[in-house]
Amino acid sequence: MNILVIGGGGREHTLAWKLAQSPLATKLYAIPGNPGMAAVATCVSGISIEDSEAVVAFAKEHAIDLAVVGPEVPLTNGIVDACEAAGILAFGPRKKAAELEGSKAFSKGLMKKYGIPTAKYEVFTDAEAAKAYVKQEGAPIVIKADGLAAGKGVIVAMTLDEALAAVSDIMEDQEFGAAGNRVVIEEFMEGEEASLLCFTDGETIVPMISSQDHKRAYDGDKGPNTGGMGTYAPAPVMTPAMIEAAKEKILKPVIAAMKQEGRKYQGCLYAGLMITKDGPKVVEFNARFGDPETQVVLPLLRSDLAQIMVACAKGDGSLGKLDIEWSDGAAVCVVLASGGYPKSYQKGYEITGLDKAEALGCHVFHAGTAERDDSVVTAGGRVLGVVAEAADVRAAVDKAYQGVNVIDFKDKMFRHDIAHRALERQS
Ligand code: AMP
Ligand code: GLY
Repeated sequence: MNILVIGGGGREHTLAWKLAQSPLATKLYAIPGNPGMAAVATCVSGISIEDSEAVVAFAKEHAIDLAVVGPEVPLTNGIVDACEAAGILAFGPRKKAAELEGSKAFSKGLMKKYGIPTAKYEVFTDAEAAKAYVKQEGAPIVIKADGLAAGKGVIVAMTLDEALAAVSDIMEDQEFGAAGNRVVIEEFMEGEEASLLCFTDGETIVPMISSQDHKRAYDGDKGPNTGGMGTYAPAPVMTPAMIEAAKEKILKPVIAAMKQEGRKYQGCLYAGLMITKDGPKVVEFNARFGDPETQVVLPLLRSDLAQIMVACAKGDGSLGKLDIEWSDGAAVCVVLASGGYPKSYQKGYEITGLDKAEALGCHVFHAGTAERDDSVVTAGGRVLGVVAEAADVRAAVDKAYQGVNVIDFKDKMFRHDIAHRALERQS
């Protein structure tokens, strides 16, 4: 099979790395890919992944048998529909199904209609009405821009003033552009967060190993929100009973609801969960793999990813017949970022020690890197994900930080406490 991976971050490097292990894979391509992915795939520059037509033209020319879509923007643009119209099998939800991530108002409405547990909410297009609701409900309260805002359109306001300012910023000052024409205002949920991703063909769901992200920039969950500073899997908060509850009350009903609504959902569904005293509730759905959740979940997959993806994309019932196996160990990913991230940072610094980290048995997934002459240099906020697998989280943490310590670049920044919640539970 010729496989095309669409995207060029840490998630896509992990997808390409895992797909390359499949006996079904003959040739791998990536648009645009990155220097790390170049070890397993031919990286193609000059095509925008937001130009579905151009991507499909490339796929036809190179006899692609399976296209695997990483990020949300091409999905909400309808790249899967475009591939299918050209007779190319594609892993990921179609445009109408990707709305589950593309519009928070849609996703909240669906959950309300089908009784899927989530925070109570209201949708507003008028700033004055939104402010009146905020005053009525009081703080803490959560304000969300409706559309895609690169993970930044959510403000968890602990005071009334913060909440009112957030409504102004999003609706009046258009801080997130058109994504803020509508806002969702919702109840603050208290609990521990976890991510539960699943494979689905639109009928059957196969949960993956649970994981936990660290969204804040600095140790102790302090500082601004980021795309994710590190992850570990499995998440001990997701006990077998909690996974069962999430499967029965959230994953199965939402997949059935999407089918009922004429928006059959195929691909990877990511449920961001809050584990409350009343059980798991949905924080958000994403229409794709998580980044950096993928970096810890897929290394623990013992089965053939290409075969699973083909089954999901075909929707021919074969997913339910596969025996999908997972490691009973743990994995940890520590993100190395550019100093200053998530605000402004410098790029172009040489990275050393990548081979040394690999020699220690870590996987180093590239996120924001570039090639310059014969070296690899920093080229983004999140630069690398250093991943270690081991028998348990403690051992995986130790090994991942050994890898982190042998990699160097100017202004290297990372969190020192990845997986602290899991370690606290163990001790
Ligand atoms: P989202 O983009 O919807 O995942 O929100 C980003 C982050 O905001 C989540 O990962 C949570 O930490 C937090 N958050 C979102 N909604 C809520 C809520 N209703 N209650 C508490 N925290 C929330
Ligand atoms: N790690 C959070 C996300 O991928 O949305």
